[in-house]
Amino acid sequence: MRRRARRIEDSGRGLIAPEEVERDGVILRRLTADDAPAVSRAATESLEHLGPWMPWATPEGTSLETQRERLLGPATLWNSGSGYEYGIFLPDRTLVGGCGLHRRIGPSALEIGYWVHVDHTRRGIATECAGALTAVGFGLRGIERMEIHCDEANVASASVPPKLGYRLTGRVDHEPEAPGEVGSRLIWVLYRREWEARPPRATPSGA
Ligand SMILES: CC(C)(COP(=O)(O)OP(=O)(O)OC[C@H]1O[C@@H](n2cnc3c(N)ncnc32)[C@H](O)[C@@H]1OP(=O)(O)O)[C@@H](O)C(=O)NCCC(=O)NCCS
Repeated sequence: MRRRARRIEDSGRGLIAPEEVERDGVILRRLTADDAPAVSRAATESLEHLGPWMPWATPEGTSLETQRERLLGPATLWNSGSGYEYGIFLPDRTLVGGCGLHRRIGPSALEIGYWVHVDHTRRGIATECAGALTAVGFGLRGIERMEIHCDEANVASASVPPKLGYRLTGRVDHEPEAPGEVGSRLIWVLYRREWEARPPRATPSGA
């Protein structure tokens, strides 16, 4: 009986993420190869800030050519439902970062990633985006768990998930992939039942 109810409820959810989501002054929009110049510019301007944490944040990795090539990928990912990569835009459509949902932690779960242009940090943008992506993830059929991972040394990134109700459930040794990482990955988890039981948003940056 419970299984049937669950199936009916689940069938009301989408299979593919929305291409655009707006939330409290930030717009998340599906990235395409046409966004390569804006992504390359924002990431290049933020190299020193991103470099310690993002393996791709090198002069070559943020170049227009690499980004154009890379951004041809999300089109196929999106349509297959295997991953969703969004640009973060201000209302005037300036690109100020990127974030995404990745299907790399099992069939009923999605992992959130994010980065913000160095000139736009500490304004709650990553928290808003991760909150919006949490809602997008739980709006998808079959998704029961959302996770955010970051290296223990990445204090800024680790500050985002607890603001949204995620719980720290583990630390996993990993091979550092970027120069700032110390090799201990924090695993932050939010289950659907916890998300559904969350209190109404009390502040603009709450979940
Ligand atoms: C991590 C990152 C996305 C945070 O973006 P942001 O938009 O500045 O985050 P928010 O404004 O939502 O900040 C959330 C909280 O993080 C903490 N925080 C953010 N930047 C911080 C910093 N430089 N030092 C310490 N704490 C920081 C604060 O507690 C902040 O809340 P507060 O401003 O209310 O105190 C951004 O710093 C970034 O792009 N870092 C490089 C890329 C990266 O590490 N990505 C994640 C990989 S796992």
